[in-house]
Amino acid sequence: MTEVLELEGSDPAAAGGNRAADVLEAGGVVVFPNMPFEIADAERKFLDPAILSESKNVSLEPISGALGGTRLGGDDAHALGSMVKRFADRAESLLAHLTPTYTGALQRRRTSFRPGAVADRALSRRKDDRRLHIDAFPSNPVQGRRILRVFSNVNPDGCSRLWDVGEEDFESFARRFEPRLHMPHGGGWLLQKLGLTKGRRTKYDQAMLDLHDLAKLDDRYQERAPKRRLAFPAGAMWVVYTDSVLHAALAGQHAFEQTFLLPIEAMKDEARAPVRILERITGRALI
Ligand code: SIN
Ligand code: FE
Repeated sequence: MTEVLELEGSDPAAAGGNRAADVLEAGGVVVFPNMPFEIADAERKFLDPAILSESKNVSLEPISGALGGTRLGGDDAHALGSMVKRFADRAESLLAHLTPTYTGALQRRRTSFRPGAVADRALSRRKDDRRLHIDAFPSNPVQGRRILRVFSNVNPDGCSRLWDVGEEDFESFARRFEPRLHMPHGGGWLLQKLGLTKGRRTKYDQAMLDLHDLAKLDDRYQERAPKRRLAFPAGAMWVVYTDSVLHAALAGQHAFEQTFLLPIEAMKDEARAPVRILERITGRALI
């Protein structure tokens, strides 16, 4: 069973100590149904998907400050970047209250703003996030670190964002597909040298990319996997480890997402990290 911990109001301290970290590490979702991320009147125009270039979202890189995915320039691009940055800061302060023991260890990564409707995306099965999957990054290896994501639904018309989440825990999911993992011997250094990855793609990264693809490409699995429908209302924020919780975004429009990486040593219980679970299943060191 996927636990969904609903927290009331806008005070994340209501989470009560560090309970949220436990729920998250156990594969649960923490939801604040009523925690709107405020968009100023002058920013409303950015909700129009016409601001996008070819990509499906606007992205902000925390280190370089580079803003991508938009065809806006000049003052508009600057104002859009400020809005996205404000969400990144908001997500970080939310986690500072919600998961205090992670503070200092969390590494801020890309922020994304998704003005387009989920159902509008016509994509290959592998790229289709409407199919149940775990997250893995092809060009940004995490080398064992967790992927913790904070989402916000900012839909101006009151539409919920609909997800399915898998009821199966990461371990049973991984055991199901483990016989089909190919687990290369080395090769990660070559991708890095060729500039195809930022940093070395470890065996763990490869295994997670394989699991992502195996799940998405398996029609039978997509039909039969036990899952639960979640509706995140407009004005909600939610937090989830998307590297271990199977998820599919089915419908909705206008969302923000902030990615953090967490070294597994900072978890309350490192044994629950996907890398440790996969190492137990395969009997091999993966990072
Ligand atoms: C995803 O991470 O699969 C997409 C989530 C979303 O856009 O709601
Ligand atoms: Fe995903």
